[in-house]
Amino acid sequence: MADSSRDRASFSNQANALLRKNLTFQKRNIRTNLRLIFLPFYFCLILVLVQNLVNKELDKPKNKCGCTCIDTNGDGQCEKVCGIEYSTLDQASSCSITSPPEWPPLLQIPAPEFRAVRTDFLSFTDLPDESCRISGSCPATILFTGNNQSLGQSLAGNMFRSSSTLNSSDILYSLANDASGSETMTGYSNFLDPAFFSNYSLYRLQQQCPTNSRTSVSIQITSISVPAEIRCAQGLHLWRNNSSEINDELYKGFWKGNSERKIDEMVAGAYDFLNSNLNNFNVSIWYNSTYKNDTGNGPLGLMRVPRSVNMVSNAYLQFLLGPATNMLFDFVKEMPQHEKQLRLDFSSLLGPLVFTWVIIQLFPVILTYLVYEKQQKLRIMMKMHGLGDGPYWMISYAYFLVISSAYMLCFVIFGSVVGLKFFTLNEYSIQFVFYFIYINLQISLAFLIASVFSNVKTAAAVAYFIVFGTGLLGSFLFQFFIEDPSFPRGWIVVMELYPGFSLYRGLYEFSQYSFTGNYMGTKGMRWGDISGSSHGMRDILIIMFVEWLLVLFVAFYIDQVVSSGSGVGRSPLFFLEKFRKKPFSSSSMRKPSLRRQGSKVFVQMEKPDTERVEQLLLEPTASHAIICDNLKKVYPKRDGNPEKYAVRGLSLALPQGECFGMLGPNGAGKTSFINMMIGLLKPSSGTAYVEGLDIQTQMDEIYTSMGVCPQHDLLWENLTGREHLLFYGRLKNLRGSALTQAVEESLKSVNLFHGGVADKQAGKYSGGMKRRLSVAISLIGDPKVVYMDEPSTGLDPASRKSLWDVVKQAKQNRAIILTTHSMEEAEHLCDRLGIFVDGSLQCIGNPKELKARYGGSYVFTMTTTSNHEEEVENLVQHLSPNANKIYHLSGTQKFELPKQEVRIADVFQAVENAKGRFTVHAWGLADTTLEDVFIKVARGAQAFNVLS
Ligand SMILES: *[C@@H]1O[C@H](CO)[C@@H](O)[C@H](O)[C@H]1NC(C)=O
Ligand SMILES: *[C@@H]1O[C@H](CO)[C@@H](O)[C@H](O)[C@H]1NC(C)=O
Ligand SMILES: *[C@@H]1O[C@H](CO)[C@@H](O)[C@H](O)[C@H]1NC(C)=O
Ligand SMILES: *[C@@H]1O[C@H](CO)[C@@H](O)[C@H](O)[C@H]1NC(C)=O
Ligand SMILES: *[C@@H]1O[C@H](CO)[C@@H](O)[C@H](O)[C@H]1NC(C)=O
Repeated sequence: MADSSRDRASFSNQANALLRKNLTFQKRNIRTNLRLIFLPFYFCLILVLVQNLVNKELDKPKNKCGCTCIDTNGDGQCEKVCGIEYSTLDQASSCSITSPPEWPPLLQIPAPEFRAVRTDFLSFTDLPDESCRISGSCPATILFTGNNQSLGQSLAGNMFRSSSTLNSSDILYSLANDASGSETMTGYSNFLDPAFFSNYSLYRLQQQCPTNSRTSVSIQITSISVPAEIRCAQGLHLWRNNSSEINDELYKGFWKGNSERKIDEMVAGAYDFLNSNLNNFNVSIWYNSTYKNDTGNGPLGLMRVPRSVNMVSNAYLQFLLGPATNMLFDFVKEMPQHEKQLRLDFSSLLGPLVFTWVIIQLFPVILTYLVYEKQQKLRIMMKMHGLGDGPYWMISYAYFLVISSAYMLCFVIFGSVVGLKFFTLNEYSIQFVFYFIYINLQISLAFLIASVFSNVKTAAAVAYFIVFGTGLLGSFLFQFFIEDPSFPRGWIVVMELYPGFSLYRGLYEFSQYSFTGNYMGTKGMRWGDISGSSHGMRDILIIMFVEWLLVLFVAFYIDQVVSSGSGVGRSPLFFLEKFRKKPFSSSSMRKPSLRRQGSKVFVQMEKPDTERVEQLLLEPTASHAIICDNLKKVYPKRDGNPEKYAVRGLSLALPQGECFGMLGPNGAGKTSFINMMIGLLKPSSGTAYVEGLDIQTQMDEIYTSMGVCPQHDLLWENLTGREHLLFYGRLKNLRGSALTQAVEESLKSVNLFHGGVADKQAGKYSGGMKRRLSVAISLIGDPKVVYMDEPSTGLDPASRKSLWDVVKQAKQNRAIILTTHSMEEAEHLCDRLGIFVDGSLQCIGNPKELKARYGGSYVFTMTTTSNHEEEVENLVQHLSPNANKIYHLSGTQKFELPKQEVRIADVFQAVENAKGRFTVHAWGLADTTLEDVFIKVARGAQAFNVLS
């Protein structure tokens, strides 16, 4: 090796180069980053705003214990006092209640207009006539059945008082003493019984009602008196043959079973005395639990059940012991309670959905970044300039991890600072572990998925689809399964194998803990909660951790084997190669094998120019940078197309300091050849040695001394020219002042140094500037071998000229292979040329040789009037009998004159003579150009191939 800078850049140097490039990239992207970081902030802020609205609503008087202003100490000023006595029904349940008020137990009685009457769909004739509905005097019906009808009839008769007067001095007592009821629905709690706070809703059940049955009273409850109206309701007891008759009647009376009527036929209750007799009292009671006035849960209708039990027990006692017996059921009351403030943590309710979105939102960011480098072929480009897979993976992974961690940190900090219970109540160390494992899993997953995509737009679309889909499926499907205790736990674990769902599950668990913690005033999730086996959190942490390692491994493996983005994939058992390859990898073994194959090369290359190549192959010297040994590329049959020979056994030797130009029509196989040489394609057979290293097995080492200027510029849009060169220079193991100097010189040489161009982002460069930067990249770090694929395409003449100067200067001490379509360029730059047609080199030589060999003729053009054409032909015939007319159009004719037959002086002489005989408008004599050679060779080869 010539100097120390040619050594392969160490792992840390490569990592350093990549890291610096990424940081610069990140710096450029500061706005996107801020937007990203602010997203959780916005979300948290929105949640806080909504939470404030909810809190404001909950803080409204109707959701708090009622208060009023009274002058308690007689100073003329009123003080605020709160308590159940100043509360409405809704407020009562929030108050601090040390001694709850007592209520006479009530029976649920349907409002008069709903009480059961005779109808066409009920076969019973003992029900009252429909006319009672108009007067509002329908009786409240109670149904009975049992094994002993006579016993049942007498029990039913005992249930209603025949008549009694209301003791107006102690209303509550007489209500308790009678069978009283109400049509109101019950509330969430029974601190205040709604029956006493709505007019016309208290009834006393009696056997017969007096004509004027309404009594207005005022009822004293604790310290306040409530006006109420007590009415009489006639109790009607009807016998039914058995319980199924009762069921049938209740079922039909319910309007949902009878939609055209749309009105309930309701009874106050029903009793089945079963096998009761004098020694034994068994009863089953029907009651309607639907009587509750809120959306709360629990069978609140039960608050009206105690009275119906008391009524029937009382009736049985009276039957046994006589009508004077009375079992008084005085009152019911709730237990005392502390003041309650209704609290609802919104962040916990919405948390799983919103936070899933916030966190998973990083996935598309990482994925598109990875796919971008793949789509733009930047990953390959970096690899071709010496970036190993190890540093690439390490730095990229660490880089995404840092970004994700910063993002999550901001997220949790914002959330905590604005006071979302979701974050503050659950232990931070659990959150840390959970988020940390998840972001690692997410990054690994992005690496894995990135191997599937090659287009940024598709990847982004799919990734965002996944983001929204996961959130929605999580909250509308997965959560449903979690909350369904009958859903098999095993299946939930299976669903959690999808990382999006394990994230959702984790957030769901956090939210459950913070919601109940907030509601009950306790703490959220602690480590102690996790150890329980039934807990979801433990499973998820285990699942995610295992998945993380697994996915990372698979992603790396796929990257190495399939490698659609980073050059030639390795064999599926690549990790065994190291052991297998060792004995053959020394250079002493390699050279003889090359020599052995030399004779075969000679046989296959039939064109005379290949002799030189063969000669060089037979005597390998260190001065040869590139030696291709019968390199072949065959594309297998596909979609019914036959096998395609892209490169058919190419042999070539390039000494140091030579620029070799490859000419050839499109589709001739030039690109396949270059791609094999730069490691993007695997040769079907044969191989090539670059600086003595085999491209089949030692590509990684070759990369360190190779430069590539691809056909399409592979640049980062938002890195400057200088940053590109710094990055690739570092990859080529340049450091410190050597690096700055190299970059500077490189910039100057491609004319990108002045006017601040070097520090403009490459995305803003013109096509020519990009091209020049690509050439500069391929040359930085003094590579021994450089491949340039049509370097001057699309350049204006001035830029092209300066580019040529650069290449010309660069070829002093390295081998350059250059493909081009411009004959001018080939002639100008290349020491030797090869014309590549249909997969093989048709000829090799320097431009002069080629012209001499393939263009052994002059082109003679003469324009006359059309009636002298024949004379011109005669003239040419005379000059050279083997002349060949190649072009003819209205007086202008073009001939090819074999050089060995013609002397130029003779031509001039002949033309002078001709001018005397007829008018010559114009004439010319030209040597063949490279273009003519090219066309001739290409045509000849194609014709040959068509024939064969
Ligand atoms: C039914 O009850 C009455 C008491 O009301 C009792 O005298 C009679 O024996 C009972 N009948 C049966 C079959 O048990
Ligand atoms: C009415 O209630 C009061 C208070 O409990 C009682 O003293 C009085 O005897 C009752 N009157 C009747 C007629 O029962
Ligand atoms: C339910 O309760 C509210 C007051 O809390 C009352 O206005 C409404 O009439 C009740 N509805 C019924 C069907 O009892
Ligand atoms: C109930 O039983 C009585 C006497 O056994 C019978 O006459 C009547 O038809 C029965 N009612 C119904 C609805 O079956
Ligand atoms: C039970 O009560 C509800 C609410 O008032 C009513 O709609 C329903 O019809 C009742 N059911 C029966 C069987 O009476």
